[in-house]
Amino acid sequence: MNDVSNIQRIALAYSGGLDTSVMIPWLRENYGCEIVAMVADIGQREDFAAVREKALATGAIVCEVVDLKEQFAAEYLFPALRAGALYEGRYLLGTALARPVIAGAQVEVARATGCDALAHGCTGKGNDQVRFEIAYRSLAPDLAIVAPWREWELRSREDEFAYAEERGIPLPVTAEKPFSIDQNLWHTSFEGGVLEDPSAVPPEGIYQMTADPTAAPDEPQDVEIAFEAGLPTAVDGVPMSPARLIAELNEIAGAHGVGRVDIVESRLVGMKSRGLYETPAGTLLRAALQDLEALTLDHAIAAFKEQLSARYGELVYQGLWFTPLREAFDAFLRISHETVTGSVSVRLYKGSCMPVARRSPYSLYREDLATFGEDAVYDQKDAGGFIRLWGLPSEVRARLLAERAAPATDEAEPSKTNGAGIRPAALAG
Ligand code: ARG
Repeated sequence: MNDVSNIQRIALAYSGGLDTSVMIPWLRENYGCEIVAMVADIGQREDFAAVREKALATGAIVCEVVDLKEQFAAEYLFPALRAGALYEGRYLLGTALARPVIAGAQVEVARATGCDALAHGCTGKGNDQVRFEIAYRSLAPDLAIVAPWREWELRSREDEFAYAEERGIPLPVTAEKPFSIDQNLWHTSFEGGVLEDPSAVPPEGIYQMTADPTAAPDEPQDVEIAFEAGLPTAVDGVPMSPARLIAELNEIAGAHGVGRVDIVESRLVGMKSRGLYETPAGTLLRAALQDLEALTLDHAIAAFKEQLSARYGELVYQGLWFTPLREAFDAFLRISHETVTGSVSVRLYKGSCMPVARRSPYSLYREDLATFGEDAVYDQKDAGGFIRLWGLPSEVRARLLAERAAPATDEAEPSKTNGAGIRPAALAG
């Protein structure tokens, strides 16, 4: 189905790094086609004018820089936040969520510039190749896909430089980092190189968005987040666009060292890998939202949502953003979170973020019910009957065990009995 035999023009997801820079001449040479470079601005710190220059200097016919920050925040990060999406309990999915938004913009550029193929710079060992290509096939099944890393003979940075030099192609002389970095509005991730040994503590000063918690301010700071229907809308009373709000909270939470994790994760392509992530705003927003949910969601929805969060996180990680399951989850969450409106104050202090106050017009919390003082609504006598029925199955089982075990009780060794002195095996005998 993926016919790469007669490609005329390829839209390449271009970052300006070494790999995608070498890819421009490599694709032209190996596919005899033209290259349109597509640069996604998803909030990474980057000199986009320089990236554009680089793409043209290495042989792209055009370079489109697309500002995706607000779309990334509103259509990807916020829904994932509302879903509580988390992979393997700890990863807030900053890279995984960026891939579908980049792929979407890349397909649009491809259409607008008459491309018949799409290419990306991911290696053949990671998750990102899967995420890009599943997105491409969901959005543009008619376009061919080229993944140079899975095809070319270049095996190292040196190979890539030699390849460019032979062709007189100017390459940026960037200092080599002893690990790989991926950065956007939501997070910075680090993996590979010196981080590959999971038993080695990461080098000092590696993190970029967060202060070292031990060096963070000695004074705690409270920040108030407002939510409407499960989506953040304001910080300390100031309404902000989704991307602005995240950028603002990255600064505030980052200064207090909030949002670092150092984990080993299970890649989709089978291997374990070690990664460091810093997601300051995401970590703070997640804590705040969870707190507001505790006030506004009933137990059944809240308990069900825990399962949904894990499942949602898994599908995002596994490249399945553009699927009916994700859309159905979002439809569920639109309804379950209609009343998740209100605000939460979170205290930031040396790497921790702890909700300390919350309020909502839809609060299910009733002070008149919860109080230890006098109240008129709750009759304590009702609790007696409730407990008798709630405990009825426990009582029935205990009586049965006692009857069955009665003849054998004096032979039973104490170690083989349960707390009540009854051998559970009596049920089988
Ligand atoms: N392991 C993370 C993921 O699959 C991040 C991958 C990109 N990170 C990087 N430093 N290149 O989502």
